[in-house]
This record gives sequence, C-alpha cells and structure tokens, in this order.
Amino acid sequence: MTLSFPPGFLWGTATAAYQIEGAAAAYGRSPSIWDDYLREHGTHGDTGDVACDHYHRWQHDLDLAARLGAGAYRFSASWSRVMPDGRTVNREGLDFYERLVDGLLDRGLTPALTMYHMDLPAHLDGGWSNRDTALRFADYAQVLTETLGDRVGMWMTVNELYYESWVGYAEGAFPPGHRDSAKAVAALHHMLLAHGLGVSAVREHSPAAEVGLVSGYAPVVPATDHPADVAAASTAHTHSIDVVLGPVLQGRYPQEYAEHPARAEALAATVVDGDLDLIGAEVDFIGLNYYFRRHVVAADRVTDPEVVAVADPPGDFLNLTHLKEIGAAEVRPRSRHRTMADWTPEPEGIAQMLTDVTADYGPVPIHITENGLPLPDYAGTDGAVRDPERITYLRDHLAGIHTAIAGGADVRGYFVWSLLDNLEWTSGFGHRFGLVHVDYATLTRTPKASFDWYAQVVADNAVPTGHPVPANALPTTDSIPTTTRPAAESQREMIQGAS
Ligand code: FCB
Repeated sequence: MTLSFPPGFLWGTATAAYQIEGAAAAYGRSPSIWDDYLREHGTHGDTGDVACDHYHRWQHDLDLAARLGAGAYRFSASWSRVMPDGRTVNREGLDFYERLVDGLLDRGLTPALTMYHMDLPAHLDGGWSNRDTALRFADYAQVLTETLGDRVGMWMTVNELYYESWVGYAEGAFPPGHRDSAKAVAALHHMLLAHGLGVSAVREHSPAAEVGLVSGYAPVVPATDHPADVAAASTAHTHSIDVVLGPVLQGRYPQEYAEHPARAEALAATVVDGDLDLIGAEVDFIGLNYYFRRHVVAADRVTDPEVVAVADPPGDFLNLTHLKEIGAAEVRPRSRHRTMADWTPEPEGIAQMLTDVTADYGPVPIHITENGLPLPDYAGTDGAVRDPERITYLRDHLAGIHTAIAGGADVRGYFVWSLLDNLEWTSGFGHRFGLVHVDYATLTRTPKASFDWYAQVVADNAVPTGHPVPANALPTTDSIPTTTRPAAESQREMIQGAS
C-alpha cells in the first residue's frame, strides 16, 4: 500500500551554514558565537572549522540534492560571512550565496533560504538580549534580499527561536551560555522582532517570493492524568510554542505568558510600541521542525511515587530552570526506544502537532522544515551505508503527516533533516542525521539506503507503508569499527596541512 501526497507537494532536504560549510576563518568570515564556544564545550573538540567542507564542495552537494529529485533545498546564509563586522558587506561571502542560489536554480531546485540559523556573529555585544541585534539583522536581511531577492523562491527568517533563546540565555547550554531568564525573554522577543524585520525586507525586495519563519515544535503532553500534571503541561505548551506562534500569527503574546509572574516584568521591559505589529505581519507559511514530544509533570510532584514511576530512569527528570519557574518539570517517557540524542521517536506526535496548530491558529499553510533521526551510521565492508531505522522513522512520520492532511491540515512541503551528515552543535559529528554519509577524515560523500528510499518517495509523490525496509537496506553482519578516530583530529590535520 502507498500513501499518496497532494499534487504539487514540495519535497526537500535541509542544512544550515555552520553545520556544513567549514572555511570558518577564510574568505573574510568573522567568528560566530559557536566557533569559540565549541572549542571549549564541544564533543571531542568538534567544531565547524572544516565540517563537511561544503564551502568548497557545494557543487557536488547540490548535485546530490538534485539527484533526489526533490523540488527544494533548504539552507542558511552565514551572517558573519556576509557582514563580518556587522555593517560592511563582504562581497566574497555574498558571492558564495549567489553561486549557491544560481547552482540550485540550474539544477531545478527552489532555493529555500534561512536568513539566520543559530550562528550569530560573535561581535554583536549582548547577542539577542540586546535590541540592537534585531536592528543589525534588519540591515543583513536588506543585503540578502536586495542581492538574492530576484532568485530565491522561499525565505525563512529565523530558525527555532524558542529553543535558541531559552537554551542559550537561560539554561546556559548553548552559546552565549547565560543563565538568566530575563535575558531569554528579551532574546526571544528580539528574535521575533528580527523575523518581522526580515518579512518586511522580503516584501520590499523579493515580492514574488514566499516568506515564513521556522519554529521548533515539540508538543507538550502530561506524563500522567493527574490534573496538576495536565495543567503544568498546558502551561509549558503555551510558554514554549504559543509564545512564538501567537506573536507571529496573531500579533500578540499569549496572555498566560505575558501575565505570568516569572515573565511579566522582563517582557514589559523589552517590548516597544509597534513591535507586535511588525512581528505579526502576514506570513505565507510557517515552518515547523518536529523531532519529539515533551512529557511534563507539575514541578512539585517530581518526588510523588506516581511521577517517580513514569520517569525513565525512575525518579529522574530534566532539570530545566525555565520550566521550574513556571511550575513544570520534564521527564523522559518509559519503555520506548531512545535515540543517541536521548530523545524518543514518537511519530504520532507529528500528526498531533499539525492537528493542534490547525485548531489553534486556523488552516495556516505549513512546511515541515526539519524532521530526521541521528544514528551512528557507518559504511559496511562493501562501502554501502545501511540505515533501516531512518527509513522506518521517515516513513512513520510521513504517514502521520498524511493523516493530518486528510484531517484538514494545510501541509505544503516536507524537508528531511538533513541532506548530509553534519556538525550537530554541541553533540559533534557523531550524531549523523544525513541521507548522505560523510566520512570526516576524507570528506567522501556516500548516499545511504535512506537516500534511495527518499528519492523513490519523491518520484512517486507517495510513501510505501508495507515492508518498511527495502532489501538493500537490511543490516548485514558487518561490524561497526571498534575504534573510530574522532573527526576533530583528522580535521585539525587538514587545516594544518592546508596552512
Ligand atoms: C534542530 C536544528 C538543526 C539540527 C537539528 C537536529 O533543532 O534546527 O540545526 O541541529 O535540530
């Protein structure tokens, strides 16, 4: 059996600049907040110095994207490559993105360009908690749209605003590493403002294109039926999801957030008259990244035997300050498969997300801008890379999207994260999300079994639901190499060799 998608459904893959480009200290690029941060806090010292060396191998990578037969390719521009000092344009950096956009068009792919995907220029003092950063972003968005606006068909302003602001400014787990919730409230607001300013730039210089933002969306569900857990999950949902979609789609923050004792003061000190009009300017679509759901209980119930029993390991919970402040705590669900990134695939959550968004915000056009699975993929002795778990994962999530479309959700497209294995931020190169395997010592690209599977989905505009795994994707007895050189080691040698 196959599940057919609507005619014209847009299939694609996604990447982001810092995760693939490399050439971090070349061609006029200035450091982003990630460069130094990863030297200190990365896994095995993995950084974006070389990454996939996409900056030099982009033609081959675009050939791979085209070989999938997909209609679009989502990528991001590096702000510190385009405007290294935040004010002057680095022509060489901008030229790179012109080459990419033209290269995509030559191959029949719609360029879907994310203006900003986590890699803030390091010299922007205060980062997103400073309002000036949003104004600098407006200049950057002008430069991008003036130069590329005649050729880019889809613009995405800012990626995963909630995640970046809370993890980086309140939990201290991403750069700039702050632990201050007031800063996170301000950072989120300024990222929303940047989105609004980005939309204005697109309307002015790229009037034929579509524009939207990209929000992470992890549906929040109560881990038990207890009314206090149900209430905590609802609050956490509002503070993590509606806090982005409300301003963008309705021009206002949810009242529960704006009036919350832990947030109200910081928000009032941040918002300036007129901001929400800009932020709420009409978009053509919203991009949603879906990976997992969050299972939440009331913060004061974490030692309750009922909660201890549903947590895995029992009694454990993720100690997140920003949830605690609003009376919630997150636990990992029990007895389900965990990915190497320590989250649980829950394909049913993607249909839930789409149904909820449609119910909460009306039939807004949606693109799934990221969805994918990290695996420790490796090439077998015959050179093939077999990733049946990824095929099953993608199939089950696409089936969920299909169900949601049948139920009335207006889903227009789907982008697999990612085209290539790449630098998974603080988790390093070990977390491989690609349809294409990258050997970080040689930078050789090898399409995985999931690549062929996805190419067939694109060709058929339909997802097979029968046997999940094509014969060529079945695992063999190849053994995983017991010693693998950390990617950073060979990449450091490459840089030394080149200098
Ligand atoms: C998302 C990010 C993306 C990638 C995936 C796995 O949160 O937007 O860059 O790291 O997770």
